[in-house]
Amino acid sequence: MKIIKVLILGITVAVFCVLTTLNTSCTSTKQSTAERTGVQIWGENCVRCHSTPSPAAYNDVDWETIGLHMRLRGNLTAEEAAKVVEFMQSAN
Ligand code: HEC
Repeated sequence: MKIIKVLILGITVAVFCVLTTLNTSCTSTKQSTAERTGVQIWGENCVRCHSTPSPAAYNDVDWETIGLHMRLRGNLTAEEAAKVVEFMQSAN
């Protein structure tokens, strides 16, 4: 009986450790919107469906429009989309 108790304790500790590790890695990789730059959001989101469009491919006015359009496609917040557009306009 004693060995079963030890086993159960061991498994509980192992599960706890895995959960804690997962939790920490999740929180450390998921940065809040405020911390993420336009470049990061661009690199993480825009490649999901097509290759990352070069900032130089469009002018400032085009980027405003594309920003709105791709904000819906990429399910970005207004703040995230604005940051991407800002980056595209600064780099073209
Ligand atoms: C959910 C998929 C998806 C995501 C995410 C996405 N796009 Fe798109 N994008 C598309 C599709 C589909 C098209 C094709 C044109 C259309 O549907 O209007 C497109 C077209 C474009 C075009 C025009 C390409 C051309 O040659 O005419 C640009 C520029 C663009 N996307 C930029 C972006 C940027 C910048 C982001 C990130 C903020 C982004 N996209 C995120 C799906 C996506």
